[in-house]
Amino acid sequence: MSRILVTGGAGYIGSHMCWELVGRGHEVLVIDDLSTGHEQALPPGTTLLRGQVGAPEIAAALAHEHARSPLAGAMHFAAKARVDESVRFPDLYFEHNTQQTLRLAQQLRELKVPWFMLSSTAAVYGNTSGELIREDHPVAPASPYGESKLRAELGLRDWAASGGERVAILRYFNVAGADPEMRTGQSTPQATHLIKLAAQTVVAFERGQASGASSSVSPTMQIHGTDYPTHDGTCLRDYVHVSDIAGAHLAVMESLMNSTTSSRDARVFNVGYGQPYSVREVLACMQDVSGVKFPIVEGPRREGDVVRVACDSRRLQAETGWAPRFADLKLICQTALAWERRLAARTL
Ligand code: UFG
Repeated sequence: MSRILVTGGAGYIGSHMCWELVGRGHEVLVIDDLSTGHEQALPPGTTLLRGQVGAPEIAAALAHEHARSPLAGAMHFAAKARVDESVRFPDLYFEHNTQQTLRLAQQLRELKVPWFMLSSTAAVYGNTSGELIREDHPVAPASPYGESKLRAELGLRDWAASGGERVAILRYFNVAGADPEMRTGQSTPQATHLIKLAAQTVVAFERGQASGASSSVSPTMQIHGTDYPTHDGTCLRDYVHVSDIAGAHLAVMESLMNSTTSSRDARVFNVGYGQPYSVREVLACMQDVSGVKFPIVEGPRREGDVVRVACDSRRLQAETGWAPRFADLKLICQTALAWERRLAARTL
């Protein structure tokens, strides 16, 4: 059993990670400011340091915790992750996603924590070409969000080259779904993600029916652009179940822990399935699993959207033995919807 630091552990991906770690007998220490996360998402027995990564009081509490019971390694999920917000407040994104990452890495070096994993994103690639994106695909972020993550990656690679830590960077594709055991899920109310919004639409529809509402305005999904050069005119994305993202971290963690030497270079891994789905296919799937034929309207393109994003994760599979367990769009939609129904039941 090891003690692992999980920053952002009360958030969407971080909380799934905490449950996976605890399920394997590890102890987790969480740093989270609860700006988008929820304390209830944490597994019992978790120690929570409430505040921002890099804040002086959190740094002091982290040093204290490490002195009390040493950390084996760190997984850094805490970040700002809204593309639209990053366009309005780029400096905020560079501060949170880039500077705070590098400050945390530096503190962990001083504490002699031997490995560090960074949560990154396919947004670093920007407009992609080719069928499946490999880690060596050129990077050209299309938003300050992607840029802030790329700068964190580059800073971390320089940092890794100057020390002895083992470092890994995971680039996620479109993360969706919820823990199949319903211990946690995506609870951020202002999410902009397609599958989360579709699940919210189903629940709004069901609530309207339950209350007998006769409003002429029914919950609706809008497709952002139907004139893309794809088989049905809508954008393609590689949706990956959040529990597989957590599983990928476990696989990388084990390989970092088993490796005795430092390569002095951060390893970069894509996490996705390599099976893209269109917006229309996702919405049809959500209608199918829910039995709710919510209206779908066709709108204009959304600024900044890229046509097709699909992942080549062969490096992750070959180097760590990671194998996806939930690579099924239906299961992703089912678990996202089940979680949304739970959230709705809580607020009734
Ligand atoms: N979409 C709609 N209608 C909606 C919401 C989304 O048509 O109501 C479409 C989008 O236009 C896009 C697709 O659904 O074509 C997926 O959109 P998401 O917002 O779910 O996800 P993105 O691909 O835009 O972005 C995601 C993450 C980002 C990350 C990026 C990396 O949300 O954080 O993948 O590729 F940067």
